[in-house]
Amino acid sequence: MQANSQHLQQTEVSPPLLNYQNVLSPRKSDPRIQSPLFLADIGQLLTLQSASRKPDPRRGSDLKELGIIENAAVLCLAGKIVSVGTTKDALRDPWLKKNRKKVTEIDCADKVVLPGFVDSHTHPVFISPRLLDFEKHIEGASYEEIAAAGGGIRSSLDDVRKARKRVLAEKILAALRDMAAHGTTTVEAKSGYGLTVESEMKSLEAIRDAAKQWPGTVISTLLGAHVVPKEFQGCSQKYVEIVCKEMIPQAAKRKLAQFVDVFCEKGAFTAAETEQIFEAAKRHGLSVRAHMGQLSETRLQPFLRFDPASLDHMDHVNEDDIAELAKHDTVTTLVPGANYFLGLKEYPNARKLIDAGVPVALATDYNPGTSPTLSMPMAMSLACTHMKMSPAEAIAASTINGAWALRVADHKGSIEPGKDADLAIFSVKDYREIPYWFGANLCSMTVVSGSLAHPR
Ligand code: NIG
Ligand code: FE
Repeated sequence: MQANSQHLQQTEVSPPLLNYQNVLSPRKSDPRIQSPLFLADIGQLLTLQSASRKPDPRRGSDLKELGIIENAAVLCLAGKIVSVGTTKDALRDPWLKKNRKKVTEIDCADKVVLPGFVDSHTHPVFISPRLLDFEKHIEGASYEEIAAAGGGIRSSLDDVRKARKRVLAEKILAALRDMAAHGTTTVEAKSGYGLTVESEMKSLEAIRDAAKQWPGTVISTLLGAHVVPKEFQGCSQKYVEIVCKEMIPQAAKRKLAQFVDVFCEKGAFTAAETEQIFEAAKRHGLSVRAHMGQLSETRLQPFLRFDPASLDHMDHVNEDDIAELAKHDTVTTLVPGANYFLGLKEYPNARKLIDAGVPVALATDYNPGTSPTLSMPMAMSLACTHMKMSPAEAIAASTINGAWALRVADHKGSIEPGKDADLAIFSVKDYREIPYWFGANLCSMTVVSGSLAHPR
């Protein structure tokens, strides 16, 4: 905050400061001029500003640098953060003194404010939960056995192929709203439960339509290469051709996706097919990311020439590849919700990855088969208890490194002047309580582009 020697006349800073009626609708299409937003008396503000100031994903010991300011304040104007500092300094700011009456104030005493979570891996385009799979799994069947017996990803296809786009968009929007209620403001959303050209494009259009009605930011990903649908079983190459020659060109031409993802795994797509799909994506100007090493190990080096934004799951990864990843900006996105829901004893080796200097992010992997949660605090809690990440590391992995994983770190993922005013306000005194109180949603407000998105 710009300090000013003049002192503000003693103005009311304590509650009731927030009048929801005064907060303008957060809809993107809303042409009304947004009122400035001032978050005052913040117990702990986690700015996530980098101590080293390096414009890089956070690695090693930098991952736990939260840039905490106590008794802090944040001023947001026209959807952007304009100043960050102590409340004391903020109240001396000449602009604020002059315009105080026009500003919407939120009293954040005894609260933690942090950047809105960036959930960089979700699959929200599905219709039904997979409850039969859930029961079979409880009875002892593995994810692979369930898929081989006709459950799994393939069992979600019928619903999505038949569904009207509007119905899919409603489902996605409901999920996005629920995510915002848990503090998430930026979401990567994948298609991948249609697996025909038509239904994959419909899924991406549904993501676009839902995104228009949600104030947060949605980054869409074509996951036409999720599994080989049964019509192409035994001739997967034909399906890969459709992904490369029809889905990718259409998604790129119609600007329906920013990324192309591949499930590179036994029973899904081989490393050679993944490279083929990545090549097509690059030819059409799309960036790539992949599900890697979820069930078995695949050598990563051949993929790094495509500069993937992130490689996700990574339960199985070898030492040489870890050393190589430490030299790249490709983020390793860990999704412990999937390990938890599948009842696995093993989790990805986050400690080894972080300590080796690999940039690590956390995401929910929200999907009906392996991770039916959209709560980033839950993913963070699992990261702490099962992957030995510290609460501070879990927070940085869910904010700034999530932003790196989506290549939006220039305007998302930390609270600093010039960045988007996307903030989560938690009703806790200490940030460590966010992963500590697992299963609880302690997010009391979510601000997106300087407007209140939750409660709506
Ligand atoms: O990230 N592994 C591939 N995709 C999802 C699961 C999808 C599903 O089972 O529906 C995942 O775990
Ligand atoms: Fe996934």
